[in-house]
Amino acid sequence: MSPTKAARVFPHRHLLGIADLDADDIGQILDLTDSLREINERAIKKVPTLRGRTVLNLFLENSTRTRVSFEIAGKRMSADTINISGSGSSASKGETMLDTARNLMAMNPDVIVIRHSASGAPALIAKHVDCAVINAGDGTHEHPTQALLDCATIRTHKGSIAGLEVAIVGDIDHSRVARSNILALAKMGANIRVCGPATLIPRSITEIGGALTRSCVRVCHKLEDALEGADVVMMLRIQNERLGKNASRFANTREYSRYFGLNARTLALAKDDAIIMHPGPINRGVEMMPDVADSGRSVILEQVANGVAVRMAVLYLLGRGNLTDLEAIHQ
Ligand code: NCD
Repeated sequence: MSPTKAARVFPHRHLLGIADLDADDIGQILDLTDSLREINERAIKKVPTLRGRTVLNLFLENSTRTRVSFEIAGKRMSADTINISGSGSSASKGETMLDTARNLMAMNPDVIVIRHSASGAPALIAKHVDCAVINAGDGTHEHPTQALLDCATIRTHKGSIAGLEVAIVGDIDHSRVARSNILALAKMGANIRVCGPATLIPRSITEIGGALTRSCVRVCHKLEDALEGADVVMMLRIQNERLGKNASRFANTREYSRYFGLNARTLALAKDDAIIMHPGPINRGVEMMPDVADSGRSVILEQVANGVAVRMAVLYLLGRGNLTDLEAIHQ
């Protein structure tokens, strides 16, 4: 990492969404991620950077990868990490989200990481607490650390994100991963094809980043159109839990899979060196066939590995690391 990049002061107190970041902010997080990654490969995977800092992981919606990833990231940076899950919290006793946040704040944490089923919950909490707030996925709104780890993975494989053709396929309407990725990839200069049944793509999707996304996001309703010449293929799950009672957005899973599932035949339309991504959890045999998910082109487990390094970087930038010199991290 160059000294100029290391010296840049990250200009945000919270990480609520990619919408608040510009390309320099994203680049700073990705550069820091690259420099922290090797800590995860050491025999002793721990640096003292966040010693004495307290990170509260408040997960009020189901999560495996993201919750464990934030916990490991905090621990590897030596923060005291405390995990609170939906069923184990007072939310199940009728306490409001803000009362929970105010009570947690009384214990003086440095960072609150929150996952919530309501879009906007982390932003609301950020207005009422004095510590840094990180959005770990809010409803259908944003999942910024997922988009950052996806960008880190793409950059590792492709060198740069600018100019790449990225296909994002699936339930775009309910996907916070899609929204954060569209914004992040657009800001980093990629062209994005979003693809799925018309009933699962909101009309306004090309507008989410204003003129920027209007110029680089294209909607495709045929999988073949989205995959043709793609450098990156990102598949998403149908978010059945968000479909509610009005679940008839497509005929049935079999038909969905036939038209929008990634298999060896459709993947052949993408570039020969295209990478396959998925934020997990995968519904094997629905959006992606197992042979494709497990093929050499799949970088799905690398995404998971990069998730730890990205969250270490974000915790470092927002958790007021007591080292100002990044070199010291690597001693
Ligand atoms: C995603 C999420 O929770 O938004 N998963 C994740 O964080 N790895 C996507 C999903 O649940 O389908």
